[in-house]
Amino acid sequence: MSLGTKPLPVGVEVTGLDATQPIPDGVRSQLLDIFIRHGVLLFRNAGESAEAHMRVAKCFGELECHSIKESWVEGNPHLIDISYVPPPPGKPSVTQPIYEVDGRRMAGWLPWHTDQCFMPKLSRGGVLRMIQVPPEGGATGFRDKIALYASLPDRLKRRIKNRSVIYRFQPQATLHKFGRPDGLKLISTSSAMESILDRLERDFPPSVHPLVYAQAETGRKVLNISPAYAVGIEGMDSAAGDALLEEVIEYCLTSDAVYHHPWQNGDMVAWDNWRILHNAEGTPEHHTRLVQRISIAGDYGLGRQLVESGREFQQVL
Ligand SMILES: [Fe+2]
Repeated sequence: MSLGTKPLPVGVEVTGLDATQPIPDGVRSQLLDIFIRHGVLLFRNAGESAEAHMRVAKCFGELECHSIKESWVEGNPHLIDISYVPPPPGKPSVTQPIYEVDGRRMAGWLPWHTDQCFMPKLSRGGVLRMIQVPPEGGATGFRDKIALYASLPDRLKRRIKNRSVIYRFQPQATLHKFGRPDGLKLISTSSAMESILDRLERDFPPSVHPLVYAQAETGRKVLNISPAYAVGIEGMDSAAGDALLEEVIEYCLTSDAVYHHPWQNGDMVAWDNWRILHNAEGTPEHHTRLVQRISIAGDYGLGRQLVESGREFQQVL
């Protein structure tokens, strides 16, 4: 097996991988090296089974059971199904929430985020496998937070130095404080969202992550922000913290350095969740999109739960 890479606007396409059979150790370490250097890896036709999906994901670390157990594929807690199938006429969607975004009803739309930033441990990454693309829509967006930090104006670099962001899980994107598109409307929830809302307070206390840290292997600095789920900056009063977050997030979301991956059946995409922001552009509500994901376990060691500073937390909310 001989690997090659072709540049994408964010990350690379990796050629030459056959995941229909066990992946040799040398190839696995090459893939991990590409993952650390480039952050997003696209594989076309590397294998169309759950086994191939697992083989690719295991190159980047141990697999984790996703914290949102409502999405587990039965019998395999490492695999979650994030497909959308339109409900029968007159019935609401139960598999994915429907949002109105830019005037269109989209299933499975998700704002720009870092997976699990509302938990102390950031999962190492994710690998999506596309089984059936919709006839339109359904792209996934990626932004590189190493490149974003590198191009951040110095005045903003100075203001965010040694700052940390508080995150709190909220599955309804219309209730997010930052990064909401104008005119976003929630049309219908999903059964998973309803069930998460029931246990939100109990199972998802706020977490704190530094706004800047250095990638361990290369020393490159990461602008460690997730617009979704951010609720404030630790130790700053609400107005000042929100204003700074608005500025940083506006900078990230208006940057031209973005890749919207137009999926093909049989694609797999892996991303490094410690440095890549991603979003889901959603599928028009009358189309089917079949896709599964695996999460890679890990802990960059810099997140923590906000438990000891109840007063501070009150201030930023
Ligand atoms: Fe995600």
